Amino acid sequence: SHTDEDIRALIQANLGLEGPLLPILHALQDAFGYIPHAAMPLIADALNITRAELHGVISFYHDFREAPAGRHVVKICRAEACQAVGGSALAEETLKKLGVDWHGTTANGAVTVEPVYCLGLCACGPAAMVDDQVVGRVDTARMDTLLKEAGA
Ligand code: FES
Repeated sequence: SHTDEDIRALIQANLGLEGPLLPILHALQDAFGYIPHAAMPLIADALNITRAELHGVISFYHDFREAPAGRHVVKICRAEACQAVGGSALAEETLKKLGVDWHGTTANGAVTVEPVYCLGLCACGPAAMVDDQVVGRVDTARMDTLLKEAGA
């Protein structure tokens, strides 16, 4: 298929690099918005690694997703400074309210929730990010507004 050819081309383009796996994954995510399922065996074959190893790498790096994201991506900081000022409760409430788990997308396709590990806003946590916009001091009310604006 067209996609398979595109995937192969992106793998080939990065295969000569030292440590080609992360560049390949970034190239795929840039091109498709996620790592397509069809890419898994092709990458594993090209790099001579097992699919389990590949999955391990993809889930270790929180930037990669294995399914298309919703129209908006809400990232909630899970690093220490934000956790210490209510970040974990905020995350828990948000996921519960939206009825999704980490990396999940709301049923209406509006919002995907992802963890992030420090947004450089440690002094004004809990921090979050909506698409490209970083937001500090996110309490439940602020999060509700952000989610509403995002159409969740
Ligand atoms: Fe959350 Fe740094 S710990 S922004």
